[in-house]
Amino acid sequence: MEASKKEIEGDSDNVPKALVTGCAGFIGSTLTDRLLADGFEVIGIDRFSDYYARELKEQNLAAAMQHPRFTLIEEDIVEMDAFPVVDYVFHLAAQAGVRASWGRSFDIYTRDNIQATQRLLDFYATDATASPRLKRFVYSSSSSVYGDIELPMREDRMVQPVSPYGVSKLAAEHLCYLYRKNFCVPTVSLRYFTVYGPRQRPDMGINKFVRAIQKGDPITIYGDGTQTRDFTYIDDAVEANVAAALAAPLSGKPAYLGETFNIGGGNRISVRDLIAAIEGATGKTARIEYADEQKGDVQDTWAAAAKAEQGLGWSAKVRIHEGLRRYVAWIDGGL
Ligand SMILES: NC(=O)c1ccc[n+]([C@@H]2O[C@H](COP(=O)([O-])OP(=O)(O)OC[C@H]3O[C@@H](n4cnc5c(N)ncnc54)[C@H](O)[C@@H]3O)[C@@H](O)[C@H]2O)c1
Repeated sequence: MEASKKEIEGDSDNVPKALVTGCAGFIGSTLTDRLLADGFEVIGIDRFSDYYARELKEQNLAAAMQHPRFTLIEEDIVEMDAFPVVDYVFHLAAQAGVRASWGRSFDIYTRDNIQATQRLLDFYATDATASPRLKRFVYSSSSSVYGDIELPMREDRMVQPVSPYGVSKLAAEHLCYLYRKNFCVPTVSLRYFTVYGPRQRPDMGINKFVRAIQKGDPITIYGDGTQTRDFTYIDDAVEANVAAALAAPLSGKPAYLGETFNIGGGNRISVRDLIAAIEGATGKTARIEYADEQKGDVQDTWAAAAKAEQGLGWSAKVRIHEGLRRYVAWIDGGL
């Protein structure tokens, strides 16, 4: 679908205008709904990649598509020459998934995660109309950039990703930094720690576990189940984007531009304890099968929370048992 002249140039009313890339995905669609509810005009870009079913992405976008302040541009960022003139860019488009990032598939990761980010940053750095209007460029990074480092994971520690996916997300983070430094693009990078909740991608653990346990199917745990994750509820991840874009910096100056922040739910639990919590939420018993550890998976993730609290005024609100209860209720609602 070609972007129209109005979409690219923007218009002059006072409604805040946002671009959400990856708007049909799990987090992007939820952020889109939130911004629309908050009164934004939202332009979404998504290429409906085949990583998972298009039908799920269309369901994600169903409400937004009915909204008068939403416009969808179905395009591949890498193929676009110009992007909408907006106040805020929320860049979520990416090829996600750690385990699929090996071998020839890495080409997709370098394209969708690194090249696409560079295209966007370069446009907002240099376009004479878009550049002055842009107030914030919020990039969705990942805890996968850390690798197996000392816990809790702090933003100022050396990072050493252990998956090709993590490398691609880190490269894009570096691009955000260097476009900030050289061209003053107002970037902020958010390192999400395993996001879950309604619309979660079908390849992700909690989605697979809840659906299998409800059906009585076996679930596979890779490794011995002692590995831990700091789970983050979707509404908290969305709120972090809004905070990164809008929150008045505590110092009175946007000192956080060019910086990275952990977005972790404060819900670090082992995979075994997670299964027990899902059993509690569903009222059903899991049938567990164990398999070898997967290459690229880290043993633990745990976000140090202080920097996001101090820099963005953001902290996670939803505890894991409450988040699972909401997620199970959403699935029980037929989705
Ligand atoms: N879900 C998590 O737990 C998690 C954790 C850490 C980081 N992240 C990051 O958050 C972001 C969103 O993740 P998600 O789970 O919602 O993924 P998702 O796969 O549901 O959504 C990503 C969307 O981006 C689109 N896309 C990919 N490449 C594109 C391109 N070149 N042009 C246009 N659209 C393109 C896809 O079609 C997809 O709809 C990603 O950047 C991901 O790396 C997610």
